[in-house]
Amino acid sequence: MEINYEFLLQIILGLFSIICFVKSDPDPIHDYCIANTKCSRKIFLNEVPCLNPDYTLASHFTTSVLSKPSDVSRFSFNTTFINEKNLPGINTLGLVLARTDIAVNGLVPPHSHPRASEVVILLEGSLLVGFADTSNRLYRQELLPGDCFIFPKSLIHFLYNIDSGNPALTLSGFNSQNPGFQMSSVATFVSNSPMPSEVLKKGYKINGQNITRIRRNLGG
Ligand SMILES: *[C@@H]1O[C@H](CO)[C@@H](O)[C@H](O)[C@H]1NC(C)=O
Ligand SMILES: *[C@@H]1O[C@H](CO)[C@@H](O)[C@H](O)[C@H]1NC(C)=O
Repeated sequence: MEINYEFLLQIILGLFSIICFVKSDPDPIHDYCIANTKCSRKIFLNEVPCLNPDYTLASHFTTSVLSKPSDVSRFSFNTTFINEKNLPGINTLGLVLARTDIAVNGLVPPHSHPRASEVVILLEGSLLVGFADTSNRLYRQELLPGDCFIFPKSLIHFLYNIDSGNPALTLSGFNSQNPGFQMSSVATFVSNSPMPSEVLKKGYKINGQNITRIRRNLGG
């Protein structure tokens, strides 16, 4: 029988790409690695160093940080992330959970998570959510309590509370210990130090007054 090398190569390439794309953070090599946040090693690690396993407690695997509503008076939304400080047992496991409270008509402005995809579930209220892909196609959906939505890794997305009577509450899972959070407006208009005005004028086809106004509105 003649071996179809091209076909074989396609299968191998296909498998390889699945393995590459599904992987997020590196796999841990221990059952767990309780974050030793007090360790002051001066080397740069991909995760926080592990506590001696002899000192592991059940409390390292539990937290109540997502149980309380957060203060939304400043930005109309507020996100509380689980991290290796408030839940040390999450270190190296490649996942994180976050709670977002969104005020009446509040907006989580367009932003992205460079290192993780996000699955969000709406627990209370109603939301309009959406993301744009790299072809600039927008995918938007209105969510009711219990509905889920996916924001693929790195793509710019928003969550908007369209209900003018009730706040909204969501819970989001991320497939990275450190998803990152970059807000498009803040990164371009109120970066530290500021992007040159010429860049913003040309890039956004706006004038200097517009830049001043946008910067001021964003608290810059
Ligand atoms: C988010 O809520 C927490 C807890 O209520 C509060 O301490 C924090 O200042 C709030 N963050 C912002 C940006 O408003
Ligand atoms: C930009 O500036 C022009 C002229 O100053 C003004 O008419 C327009 O409303 C401004 N646009 C924004 C987005 O600020």
